[in-house]
Amino acid sequence: MSGPNTDYDPVEVNAVQPEEVEAARDAALAAIAAAGDLEELKQVRIDHAGDRSPLALANREIGALPPHGRKEAGQRIGQARGAVNQALAARQSELEAEAETRMLVEETVDVTLPTDRTPAGARHPITTGSELIADIFVAMGWEVAEGPAIEAEWLNFDALNLGPDHPARTMQDTFWTEPEDHGLVLRTHTSPVQARTMLSRTPPIYVVCPGRVFRTDEYDATHSPVFHQVEGLAVDEGITMAHLKGTLDHFAAQMFGEGITTRFRPSYFPFTEPSAEVDLVCFVCRGAGVLDGATCRTCKGEGWIEWGGCGMVNPRVLRACGVDPERYTGFAFGMGIDRTLMFRHGIEDLRELFEGDVRFTTAFGSELG
Ligand code: DAH
Repeated sequence: MSGPNTDYDPVEVNAVQPEEVEAARDAALAAIAAAGDLEELKQVRIDHAGDRSPLALANREIGALPPHGRKEAGQRIGQARGAVNQALAARQSELEAEAETRMLVEETVDVTLPTDRTPAGARHPITTGSELIADIFVAMGWEVAEGPAIEAEWLNFDALNLGPDHPARTMQDTFWTEPEDHGLVLRTHTSPVQARTMLSRTPPIYVVCPGRVFRTDEYDATHSPVFHQVEGLAVDEGITMAHLKGTLDHFAAQMFGEGITTRFRPSYFPFTEPSAEVDLVCFVCRGAGVLDGATCRTCKGEGWIEWGGCGMVNPRVLRACGVDPERYTGFAFGMGIDRTLMFRHGIEDLRELFEGDVRFTTAFGSELG
């Protein structure tokens, strides 16, 4: 007769022996306690609680024990695994807390540091300056007009009373486009927009035209082959030079501050008659020529700054552009935008306006007026 084999003690199930289980548990607990960070603990978990860990292997062997031995071994191994899992969980939260504290210390943010490390840039001072000028005129009910940078020779010169042999034509050193006999130039001034406006509409006309112009100038601190002008044109019944003076005084005060007015000096432009140079009261020394006992650097002691040209629209120009000079008169003016911005902001080198340095743009360009 054979009954259940109660002496069953195979060598293969050594792992379920109390000493082995204890040793495995103790080794696990020691390794858990020794794990210095979460990464190490992860490895400890694999080694001591993973599928191939001594305790897991021991657990698997329970099934091979004789029935009476299973319960006890099961409890022993279960308790050991429970203790290991508990210790793992406790060490896990301890190490997580440590890692968090370390992160808070190591990654402390100095909230007093400037936040804007990537400059946002700004709109260019010529853009904002042109808009400011346009706004001053729009506020008076004027309109903004524009024309092309590549202009018909006839509009750039002839319509403005600068005939083919007119000596003033050579004053404006012109970039011609090829082929030359097509009669296209890079406009040398914004005045052709006057002609375009008069040709395309009937008075009353009140327009201001900011834009880019081109001349074969050297590139230096005060010249550039590309620069910017603003042109003004008013054509209506009964327009006089007094309207011109009043308009420019208002423009100057809006641009440079109350009390900054203009003066006219007799001059010559083919498209205006009479013509004048416009000077501006120096807005730094306010016309005194001296500042804190020293010669004013902005106006070089003059008390005035040259600003642009102006005059009453020449009747020949009105006629060329289809406006009846018997009925209408007009005034016009033109000034450099770059120059205006240079003395408004104390910029000493014109090239700063064209070199695209973002520090310059942010310093002068964000202004909205
Ligand atoms: N077009 C002239 C220039 O570029 C400036 C100018 C002078 C414009 C007198 C005008 C004006 O409208 O009346 O130098």
